[in-house]
Amino acid sequence: MKRPRDSISLKKTLVTGATVSLAVLVAPALADQQPQWRSGAELYNNVCGYCHKPEVGVGTVLQGRELPVEYLKVMVRNGFNAMPAFPASYVDDAALAELSKYLASLPPLPPKPTPPPAKPRPGASP
Ligand code: HEC
Repeated sequence: MKRPRDSISLKKTLVTGATVSLAVLVAPALADQQPQWRSGAELYNNVCGYCHKPEVGVGTVLQGRELPVEYLKVMVRNGFNAMPAFPASYVDDAALAELSKYLASLPPLPPKPTPPPAKPRPGASP
């Protein structure tokens, strides 16, 4: 019985939620701020590297890849599966630009050793 009304109020809630989170993202960008992170290295070592350093292995390896700032921004602002989102008030655009340069300056990981050739399947013709 109350379905149509419920779905309207749900829509309102969603729209309000989206507007509020947009305001949260935009507000810090408008504020005149000191840089939050002194360098890309600092951001990487204190935040991203916590999961993404090769020796940690929780997130994908980011170093040695030329990841465009726009790509980093999408992942960082929205989160991605197990990765949490970080708002601009915590990691701003300038910091991501520095991070992008820093990641590209790190050496890529050496390629993994090639696995041994697969054993022939029993019954497979040579
Ligand atoms: C709590 C752990 C954690 C932190 C902190 C974290 N990430 Fe992630 N990130 C992940 C995981 C896990 C994935 C892989 C998600 C998947 O593929 O399902 C990921 C995926 C990504 C991807 C997309 C995959 C790729 O390799 O292209 C990018 C880009 C990325 N993270 C950048 C960052 C940046 C930049 C920071 C720092 C601001 C950061 N992450 C902080 C866990 C984390």
